[in-house]
Amino acid sequence: MSDPLIHLHGLKKVFLTDEIETHALAGIYLEISQGEYVAIAGPSGCGKSTLLSILGLLDSPTEGTYLLNGKQVEELNASERAHIRNREIGFIFQSFNLIGDLTVYENVELPLTYRREMQRVERKKRVVESLHRVGNESPPTPLPQPTEWRSATTRCRCSGISRFSFHFVGRRADR
Ligand SMILES: Nc1ncnc2c1ncn2[C@@H]1O[C@H](COP(=O)(O)OP(=O)(O)OP(=O)(O)O)[C@@H](O)[C@H]1O
Ligand SMILES: [Mg+2]
Repeated sequence: MSDPLIHLHGLKKVFLTDEIETHALAGIYLEISQGEYVAIAGPSGCGKSTLLSILGLLDSPTEGTYLLNGKQVEELNASERAHIRNREIGFIFQSFNLIGDLTVYENVELPLTYRREMQRVERKKRVVESLHRVGNESPPTPLPQPTEWRSATTRCRCSGISRFSFHFVGRRADR
């Protein structure tokens, strides 16, 4: 059997503030294989977002190891982490994290603009095709919620995510 895509061993995360120490993750052991579909569920405050942020290389654990596709994540520098986030990881955030001043097209296009090797023509083709697939070519502004959802999903897919994507679903943070 091939190695897991995601392998967590004794992962802990402690948030320190002036007054309190919050043990958000207290020893997570997890393996996820390529192609697996996994949902992480639990009550509010149990550490779901903290875990997803670490899995998506947005945050680092306090203790434990995280092997991503055989690579020890703790050994990656900031630019290697950014590269993997841009090429291999898709995010659909709980509150979508779309940029209000940009159109849907520009929001979907944004992650691709960081890829220096991708030509403008190819970028445009990919964005138009992705938006067309979800029937989302010219949404009004401000974005209504179903459009936000489709836009965030399309932004994630359009990046050509080859390995995995994280969907931060649930109640919206701003509601
Ligand atoms: N940046 C932070 N600084 C301090 N404490 C934090 C921080 N982020 C999260 N926490 C705390 O860590 C714990 C886990 O939070 P987390 O947001 O991961 O929970 P969650 O399961 O995603 O909750 P929800 O279902 O409400 O989204 C909570 O007690 C939270 O208050
Ligand atoms: Mg959360």
